[in-house]
Amino acid sequence: MSTLTAIVLAAGLGKRMKSTLPKVLHRAAGWPLVLFPIRAALEVGADAVVCVVSPEVKEGVASVLANELPGAPITIAVQAVPRGTGDAVSAGIDSVTSERVLILCGDTPLVRADDLRALIGALGDHELCLMSALLDDPQGYGRVLRDEQGRVVEVREHKDLRTDAERAVREVNAGVYVARTAALRTALGRITADNAAGEYYLTDAVALAAGGGGALAIAGHADNLLGVNDRSQLGQAETLLYQRIARRHQVAGASIRGDARIDAGVAVGVDAVIEAGVAIRGKSSIGAGAAIDVGCVITDSQIGERVLVKPYSVVTESRVDAGAQIGPFAHLRPASEIGEGAHIGNFVETKKTRVHAGAKANHLAYLGDGEIGEGANVGAGTIFCNYDGFQKHLTVIGPGAFIGSDSQIVAPVRIGRDAYVATGTTVTKDVPDEALAIARVAQENKPGYAPRLKARLAAAAAKKKKP
Ligand code: UD1
Ligand code: MG
Repeated sequence: MSTLTAIVLAAGLGKRMKSTLPKVLHRAAGWPLVLFPIRAALEVGADAVVCVVSPEVKEGVASVLANELPGAPITIAVQAVPRGTGDAVSAGIDSVTSERVLILCGDTPLVRADDLRALIGALGDHELCLMSALLDDPQGYGRVLRDEQGRVVEVREHKDLRTDAERAVREVNAGVYVARTAALRTALGRITADNAAGEYYLTDAVALAAGGGGALAIAGHADNLLGVNDRSQLGQAETLLYQRIARRHQVAGASIRGDARIDAGVAVGVDAVIEAGVAIRGKSSIGAGAAIDVGCVITDSQIGERVLVKPYSVVTESRVDAGAQIGPFAHLRPASEIGEGAHIGNFVETKKTRVHAGAKANHLAYLGDGEIGEGANVGAGTIFCNYDGFQKHLTVIGPGAFIGSDSQIVAPVRIGRDAYVATGTTVTKDVPDEALAIARVAQENKPGYAPRLKARLAAAAAKKKKP
């Protein structure tokens, strides 16, 4: 039997997002919104999570969860029609076997484990404890109404407020609750849709618990409770998340400068330096002592220790091993693997190419579908001609080989160990180990020809200018 189950409400229509994508699947700092409360619940020890969704998003949410939290104890319950938060909890509570239940909203990504721990700790013998916050602008939120002794009486929704005094109440309901399961079940059975929205409000369970003196509200920090109902709040929440993530890495010993945006799922090693204008996205990791310079975009990639990624480089679904140097202005496309100490310089594009330790391609090259051996040197302007219009073909360059500048390597082809390809060669046949490959038109010099050529060209230009 589980001791604490979390119910995450994610079946609302999210109309205010004006989107074809369900609200809880919109991303902030790299994660779908619904993932934040689920992770927070798991972090505070919920041993089961029930995620309540609408029939239309069931599959989408299930696939996100299977992808992002494989094996986690999460089940999905369907709320057939979005008839309010109370009805949504009813849809989820059937599968709850624990004595206590934690309720979270799928649209509050800033909710923090520390606040949840305080909330759970405060429940004591009460029936229900909700989290509140003091807001300067409480507009739109449900207000926590208290009696003269300061005891919680009820939560009244904004639409249902009756007096100016009620509207002036700045303590709002954050939409996060912990309750005794049995009492909550009873309360849910008694909630009606008799209100301005015609919905079954979960907040009515607060008044029912308060009737017996069993409701409590404790205040959390306002920033942590922001609910995402529209795109502007999504932007606000994301800004706060990026700040929070940066602070976490800074405290752990990395330098995060300026407005660098590091997604929630990124790992950063100590002494890493991440400059302004960098975006590190998805499931990426940055090794200890690595430096990611201004303007780089790194997505789903593993960057090793002491790697230097110079300004404005783009790295996607790739791996860069310890001590390698990338950029400036390099583009590592998916399945690039850059070995230890290798150099990929400016205006070099790689794709599905493995560059072994110490190999170098310092300037202006396209290296697609290839393997470049240890210590090989690929000159400026080298192109792997990997595509014949129908199929991709492989280029293999042996260890220690030298590829002269402006060479075209027409795949499929193999260049042997310590081979030498002369500048400007079009390689169409395999090159044996230690061989020299040269394929270019022989040079011819015509003595004294330059002044004669210039005179002729000048005369032609002058003739053209005359009216
Ligand atoms: C709710 C609270 C309000 C609180 C605010 C905090 C109620 C009645 N009101 O209002 O007191 O101040 O959150 O952010 O609870 N949902 C469902 N099924 C439904 C309706 C909603 O699953 O039928 C889900 C939504 O997906 C969302 C959450 O419940 O994740 C909250 O719903 P929302 O419509 O955003 O409620 P608020 O108006 O924000
Ligand atoms: Mg909301």
